[in-house]
Formats: sequence, C-alpha cells, structure tokens
Amino acid sequence: MNKTLRQAVIAGNWKMNKTRPEAKALITDLIPLVKDADCGVVICVPYTNLETALELTAGTNIKVGAENCHWAKSGAFTGEISADMLAEMGVEYVVIGHSERRQYFGETDVTVNQRVRAALDAGLKVILCVGELLEQREQGITEEIVSMQTKIALGGVSAEELKRIIIAYEPVWAIGTGKTATAEQANEVNHCIRETVSKLYGQAAGDAMTIQYGGSMNAANAEELLAQPDVDGGLIGGASLKAPDFATIVKAASK
Ligand code: PGA
Repeated sequence: MNKTLRQAVIAGNWKMNKTRPEAKALITDLIPLVKDADCGVVICVPYTNLETALELTAGTNIKVGAENCHWAKSGAFTGEISADMLAEMGVEYVVIGHSERRQYFGETDVTVNQRVRAALDAGLKVILCVGELLEQREQGITEEIVSMQTKIALGGVSAEELKRIIIAYEPVWAIGTGKTATAEQANEVNHCIRETVSKLYGQAAGDAMTIQYGGSMNAANAEELLAQPDVDGGLIGGASLKAPDFATIVKAASK
C-alpha cells in the first residue's frame, strides 16, 4: 500500500460551534499556523460562518466546507440548504453522512447517497462519513457495516466523480467520547473501505482514495494514527476548535 499515491487531508468539523466573531478569531489564528502544511487543510463550518471563512481564507491553503447539504436542487424544504447554494458561494467541500446526522436527523444510507449525488452534480467535493455503532463492533460486523454504507453511498457515482470524494471512517463510539480507536483498529477498517472501493472501481482507484480516520483524534494521538498505512488524514471535531491543536494535527499529517 503506497501512501504517496494519495493526498492526506486534515479536515476540521466544527459542528454547531462558533459565532461569527469566534469563527473569525479561530481562522485568523489558524492561517499562519498551517500555512506550510504538506497536506490538504479543510475547515467545515456552520452555514452562518461560510462567508466569513471564505473571505478570511481566500489566497491561503485552507479550503472551506459545509457540514451537510440537501439532495434537491431547490424547492419546498424549509430550513434546508442546497448543494448549488454552497457551490455558488465558492464552498469547495461538504461533509455528508456524519453519524450525528444519521443519529439525530433521520439520515439513512439512501439519503446519504442522494446527498452525495446532489453534491457531485453541483461540483462540490464530498467528505463521506461511515462508521459502526458500538454494538455493531461488539457483534463483529464492523466491516460489513462500513462496507455496506460505502457501497450504498457510492451508488451511481462514476469513476471520474469518485476523485472528488474523500471517505472518513468514524467509529460512532469514538466520536466526541475521548475513546479513540487504536491505530490498528483504524487502519484495519480503513483498509477494508479501500478494498471495497477497489472492488467497485478497480485497484488504482482504491489506491488513490483518501480515507481519513475521525473520532477523538487530537494533538496527542494524531501522529500514531496518521502513521498507519491506510490512514490518509483525519476528520477532526473537538480538536479543530483550538487553532494550536488543529495545527499540531496538520503538522503530524505533513510528515
Ligand atoms: P471528535 O469528532 O473529533 O470530536 O470526536 C469527530 C467528528 O465527529 O467528525
């Protein structure tokens, strides 16, 4: 497995955090800290912070993402935001299928696939989240679950479109809990996802796929996780809210 075949990407997932002045302060602190990064750097922020983030990061190496988008182009969907609306603003990435959306907002594998479709059609890049629940891990069905989530999410996605997708493996039991998967566990499941992609699109596509790990990745454990052959970056929640911590993770991925 050759890591040089793909780009490591560290993406922050701010979730429902930061008012506009707080976002401005965090991004202003972050810009000089990550300017020499030798990996992709993305911040996925609440809709209300997108404009601020785009303005502040213009001309820097930080890319901006949203945390979700709707599957329809427009219409009677009160409270929703379409992929076209994001693309028009200059947003480059969108997180889709995060476990919090699956857990609290009725997201299913089918709606994840519809949102992936909409995001790709709008020209966005997707950070597609998959991951098992604790009871699924305990039942020994982790690989079946993430492989199924991956296959359904990628339904109808062409090989060319696949190049605009990053997959984030996020074991649900590790998100925001302080319980990180061991480096071996993360690598094992990332490897399984890569094999799933290879079976669908061929070995070269699997080898080129950026597959992140997410779930309590932080400044202290990032280096070990990112050293794994199949871990190509991270999706970072809590630790992305502090510029020095996020920058330390970016540095670990740049090695
Ligand atoms: P965490 O969140 O780093 O706070 O565990 C990760 C995520 O939900 O993307």
